[in-house]
Amino acid sequence: THVVTEACIRCKYTDCVDVCPVDCFREGPNFLVIDPDECIDCAVCIPECPVSAILPEEDVPADQLAYIKLNAELSPKWPSITKRKDPLPDHEQWKNVTGKLDQLIR
Ligand code: F3S
Repeated sequence: THVVTEACIRCKYTDCVDVCPVDCFREGPNFLVIDPDECIDCAVCIPECPVSAILPEEDVPADQLAYIKLNAELSPKWPSITKRKDPLPDHEQWKNVTGKLDQLIR
């Protein structure tokens, strides 16, 4: 599967959802996740994300491993998103910030 990692938090650019052929993105208040049961590993979403938040599971770095579980855990709880929309209002301010896990709204 592919995994949405920390960079998405408080940005949520949503360019990724437009290209997903299987509509596997799920939307939370300030973060998106990929449903690991739906993702077909096509990888077309990877270059769409302006902050490079999406990675193949096997490439998730050590400090982001919690996001593999988070995508699986949150995807059944959040609604599907298939159409791009405006990013969050503070995206410029947050796009280069690291250590954003405590900012995640479930
Ligand atoms: Fe998030 Fe990047 Fe998609 S910021 S909403 S994973 S385009």
